[in-house]
Amino acid sequence: MNKTVFITGASTGLGKLTAKYFASQGWQVAATMRTPEKETELNAYPNIRIFKLDVTDVAQVKQATEQAIAAFGKIDVVVNNAGMGTYGPLEFAEESAIDWQFAVNVRGAINVTRAFLPHFRANKSGMFINISSFMGVTTAVPVGSLYNMSKFALEGLTEGLYYELKPFNIELRLIEQGGSSGNNFQNSIIWHSHPEIKDYDPIVHKVKGLMAKAGDNPDMVDDPQIVVDAIYAQATGASKQFRTLVGNAGKQLMALRNSVPIEAYLEKIAANFA
Ligand SMILES: NC(=O)c1ccc[n+]([C@@H]2O[C@H](COP(=O)([O-])OP(=O)(O)OC[C@H]3O[C@@H](n4cnc5c(N)ncnc54)[C@H](OP(=O)(O)O)[C@@H]3O)[C@@H](O)[C@H]2O)c1
Repeated sequence: MNKTVFITGASTGLGKLTAKYFASQGWQVAATMRTPEKETELNAYPNIRIFKLDVTDVAQVKQATEQAIAAFGKIDVVVNNAGMGTYGPLEFAEESAIDWQFAVNVRGAINVTRAFLPHFRANKSGMFINISSFMGVTTAVPVGSLYNMSKFALEGLTEGLYYELKPFNIELRLIEQGGSSGNNFQNSIIWHSHPEIKDYDPIVHKVKGLMAKAGDNPDMVDDPQIVVDAIYAQATGASKQFRTLVGNAGKQLMALRNSVPIEAYLEKIAANFA
């Protein structure tokens, strides 16, 4: 019987590409998104079913999970992909933006994971593949501390759950991707600023400039198919790596981070924005 994958945030970018790739490999796909009524591409695949899902809405998570299980009988792999970024000086972040960063990237994954646990426990099998970032294992830019916080938290959640779920043969994986092309992530970023205080402007401009240039730099942006391949390798068992760091930017940063004391690493990154 064909296996089934459940993917969050499949409206664009990595989530959509992952849905299409798994479908092309014969998997059954539950592609979930906040606005299914806008979807025009995934509907054409006979083995993709689309479900409405905002990962922050616990009732909707329960409903989408139940609908997907009813539609396919069994879900084998869940890809917690939905994510967004909150950038800007922490001092100026609105309370709601701070909470939303956590609500989507961390609480969202928690909601979906908890909804699937009874199913996976009953099946004595299942895998959660959590889409993290190199920003989940290292720091790379100023004014990104909230995004860092969310991905570091996702890493801790995933690693902590490993022990809890091992007795039930439920597996956990982390994919730590860097920048990639073809996604909508720039539009998934909320920037915060202060209307009058300009003290942080120089550093914010440097970060925005770096992000704007990233798209042209092969050292910073990877072909998203390498991320999909990493997800697929975990889902099929071709790789059993708990953490997969994908892409040039993350590999270069982690090589630096692992080669020097943390104090030297922090100073080197800070110097890029001085
Ligand atoms: N692109 C990068 O540079 C990069 C680097 C490292 C890690 N990542 C991570 O990779 C993952 C995928 O991002 P991407 O690069 O493919 O960017 P993307 O194109 O912006 O995709 C983000 C997806 O998350 C969805 N989403 C946001 N809030 C949601 C919510 N409350 N409920 C359900 N879905 C929600 C978006 O849906 P809507 O269309 O409804 O907004 C969209 O489908 C994210 O976890 C991101 O943090 C991205």
